[in-house]
Amino acid sequence: MAPRIPRIPRIPLPGLPKPLSRVRATALARTRRAGVKLLTSAVDVPVVRPFAELGLRTFFDAIAGDWERIRKDPTYRAGFEEALHLLPRGFRPRRALDAACGTGLATSIVLGRWPGLNVVGTDIAPRMVEIARELVPDARFEVASVHHLPFEDGEFDLVTLLDGVLDIPELLRVLHRKGRLLIVYSVGGTTPVSRPVTKLAAEFAQHGAIAEPHTDGEAHALVVRHGR
Ligand SMILES: C[S@@+](CC[C@H](N)C(=O)[O-])C[C@H]1O[C@@H](n2cnc3c(N)ncnc32)[C@H](O)[C@@H]1O
Repeated sequence: MAPRIPRIPRIPLPGLPKPLSRVRATALARTRRAGVKLLTSAVDVPVVRPFAELGLRTFFDAIAGDWERIRKDPTYRAGFEEALHLLPRGFRPRRALDAACGTGLATSIVLGRWPGLNVVGTDIAPRMVEIARELVPDARFEVASVHHLPFEDGEFDLVTLLDGVLDIPELLRVLHRKGRLLIVYSVGGTTPVSRPVTKLAAEFAQHGAIAEPHTDGEAHALVVRHGR
């Protein structure tokens, strides 16, 4: 019979916070995710948008240090890489925007696909942008809300958005008339931001765009172009 190992009592250390039980930590993570979902819906309502944006910026700034660790889960990379294949054959952008770029995962994948491409990433959370600048030095990054992109009309032939908050008219405004907007939502991971792409396609159609939803891959994706 194996010797019985005595249980070591937990000794509370002065000045250190008590470790969270697994149940409490899960409950906290669920509450946070629900809060982010609520805020991402609230940004669509213009009167409460400034407060929702502030909430999202504060939340994502606070978790920016951990975001890269979360993004190491290969699900996110695989889903976006697969979605890039939905772009037309031979598509070769000259200037690309990765909106709501976080720490630059999609930005770096786009750069890997078209080395030397002129890419800019934007995000509302300054700390996310700081980390993205360190991780993806070949791209340019700016702090900007997806609701007010600091770019000219039709400036980009490729606009990407991975698990990001969106603004349909603003994204269409900066997209070149022959360009493509690629929206990707991870399926397997635990992203707090997601929208049903079939419903989104109908919303884009209301803005005169042509949007093709894809729901059978590693991620759900939408390829959007301007209507004729
Ligand atoms: C789920 S994360 C995805 C980040 C990144 N695309 C990735 O895949 O790692 C959502 C990102 O949207 C950003 N965000 C939230 N509201 C935004 C807004 N109004 N404008 C721009 N970025 C926003 C957050 O700061 C956060 O970095």
